Amino acid sequence: MAKTIIISNRLPVQLQIDNGRISAIPSVGGLATGMKSVHSEGESLWIGWSGLTEEEIPEELEKDIDSALAKHGSSKVKLTSAEVDGFYYGFSNRTIWPLFHYFLEYSEFELSSWETYKAVNQKFADAILEQADDDDIIWVHDYQLMLVPQMVREKRPETSIGFFLHIPFPSFEIFRTLPWREEVLMGLLGSDLIGFHTYDYERHFLSSIRRILGLEVSFNDIYLDDRIVKVDSFPMGIDYAKFSQAAKKHRDLPKKEQSELQSRLNKHKESTPDAKFLLSIDRLDYSKGIAKRLNAYEYFLNKYPQYKEKVRLIILAVPSRSNVPQYQLLKREIDELVGRINGELATVSWTPIWYFYRSMPFENLIDLYTSCDIAWLTPIRDGMNLVAKEYIATRTDRSGVLILSEMAGSANEMNEALLINPNNFEQIADTIHKAIQMPVKEQKDRNEVLQKRLERYNVEKWANDFMRSLTDQRDKDPAYV
Ligand code: UDP
Ligand code: G6P
Repeated sequence: MAKTIIISNRLPVQLQIDNGRISAIPSVGGLATGMKSVHSEGESLWIGWSGLTEEEIPEELEKDIDSALAKHGSSKVKLTSAEVDGFYYGFSNRTIWPLFHYFLEYSEFELSSWETYKAVNQKFADAILEQADDDDIIWVHDYQLMLVPQMVREKRPETSIGFFLHIPFPSFEIFRTLPWREEVLMGLLGSDLIGFHTYDYERHFLSSIRRILGLEVSFNDIYLDDRIVKVDSFPMGIDYAKFSQAAKKHRDLPKKEQSELQSRLNKHKESTPDAKFLLSIDRLDYSKGIAKRLNAYEYFLNKYPQYKEKVRLIILAVPSRSNVPQYQLLKREIDELVGRINGELATVSWTPIWYFYRSMPFENLIDLYTSCDIAWLTPIRDGMNLVAKEYIATRTDRSGVLILSEMAGSANEMNEALLINPNNFEQIADTIHKAIQMPVKEQKDRNEVLQKRLERYNVEKWANDFMRSLTDQRDKDPAYV
């Protein structure tokens, strides 16, 4: 029977070796959390990097590593530490990530990283070719693997290949600055179908195809000599049932079974019943606007001093890509900002910001989502932002307010949230004030619409829509009929 082969840099779990023992921890990030649900539903194999370099895997543990991954329907691509440096920390996260998020000044154009990126993409392509049967469907994910579709196509011209980009595709004016722009576009064009989260990213991509490669584009079809490549937008959803059911279960849990975190949150709520919790959850990444958010919070407290001692900001910043200098600098900046703001504003009974620098297990994420009155997410640029959707899905009584940056892909589908420009502190301060004052009836009306939409366009529907479109494309394309 034909299967789907999912290929991404991250697998659903990351392996660690501690004193000869292997453990698997869930991967963080929208791609892994979203695809995990799709993967567990059907007949698929997931190929990716285990999180360990070749040097870290002793020969005698090789087989155990393979079986640890097999438990998660996964298979590994082996990468040396030099490859991880050039491909992952280098070209993927020091060139493409900043460039595609419009942080042009952070983008480094290093020939050696590009060479490693090509070599590692070839390794991923070879792993696919080794494990895929002829009628399998190949689904390649994200900016780390943009050359893979073409590399697979060269060897298996008949294979059905889909590609999905989980981050923004920038405007032509930004993309054209990449020295290897033609090669990247050609790599992607190995696909039959290329998917983006939003229509804007799709439009930017097509404009680069036209202006850089001079290819004919008609609506969302790209005409190659021998094939047609289809481009479309598929906004990724969440596993709605998983979040809403977890929240329902959480609500009905007897007090003594609640987590330590939940009992602490409860204590603070009881001591100041009219105080509001604001929540933000992101990987510690400059695209998420965490430092700006902290400054905006201080601005809000100065503009509306009546809320001092009445609001608490909980920031969960998940460690990410900490070998990249920009991330190290950002970590230092955030530590300092939190320290300064808390130092200047705290009173004996009030700490304005609670800052957690770690990842949390799913149960604690639910504790936070369900306990916080306002979710406040201010990315400067974000492909989608699933946290915004997860917050809404957990609000089982439909209370709660979402303040969301209009620069997040998810803002396109979440018009009922309070949308803000993350650079406009005046607007942000007034919006937090509005959120605190918002009548419960209005909260519920807004969330009802959002919940219905998110429940319908869940991650399963997203994956099915993509797959259906990929199969239709094959059936329609003159090269295959
Ligand atoms: N997340 C997680 N552990 C944490 C914090 C967050 O697994 O401690 C998950 C969160 O539930 C969400 C994902 O990480 O599914 C973040 O996805 P999002 O699209 O918001 O941003 P990304 O990290 O992909 O840029
Ligand atoms: C974003 C990217 C994913 C990536 C995730 C976590 O969601 O689109 O491809 O997996 O961030 O980042 P990491 O570098 O830890 O894989």
